[in-house]
Amino acid sequence: MDFRFDIIQEYAPFFLQGVLLTIGLSLIAIIVGSILGLAIGLGKMSKRVLVRLPFEWYINFFRGTPLFVQILLVHFGLMPLLFAQPSPTVSAAVSLSLNSAAYIAEIFRAGIQSIDKGQMEAARSLGMTHAQAMRYVILPQALKRMIPPFANEFIVLIKDSSLAAIIAAPELMYWGRAAQGQYYRVWEPYLTVALIYLILTLSLSKLLHYLERKYSTQ
Ligand code: ARG
Repeated sequence: MDFRFDIIQEYAPFFLQGVLLTIGLSLIAIIVGSILGLAIGLGKMSKRVLVRLPFEWYINFFRGTPLFVQILLVHFGLMPLLFAQPSPTVSAAVSLSLNSAAYIAEIFRAGIQSIDKGQMEAARSLGMTHAQAMRYVILPQALKRMIPPFANEFIVLIKDSSLAAIIAAPELMYWGRAAQGQYYRVWEPYLTVALIYLILTLSLSKLLHYLERKYSTQ
């Protein structure tokens, strides 16, 4: 079997552009997802059922339906209500952020609930309000425990941002599909693209592993 390196060479600049967008989309999604996720995670921990319910359903919806469908719904349903000409890149960033927020909410909730109850009680008995105890006692400890699941979420995002190719957001997989469409060759574009995803995820896991060791308590 011949392996046409010339195809890879021709598409190299596009793969490079694609990688940059893949990294950009994943970064936006993890940042926006964390902000929304913290709010949703705290909302879901409310003792009042009526407050809790919308947050629970947010998580149910975004975890329980395919990201593929969510991207299409955002791009062809939500975005046209706001913009005359929705940009696929913006739609991809929005849907990845909304999706990730649901998963990150659960990471926050699990992290917060893993901290012993006595910590909150001790902080409250020192005269802190619930919010102060959360901010100064619970969250700093919980955040350290969240690093590994958080790293996992980031890696998932890098790979799942490839679903944005279906709405033609020009990230890495989009260019893989373009090369495949032009030459009717499967191995050259997809193996190259897979290798690039592997390099991205391996470097990221190395970096996050380092952070984990640096901030670990024991
Ligand atoms: N493959 C999953 C889906 O189609 C992706 C979910 C995204 N996962 C995540 N941790 N953000 O629904």
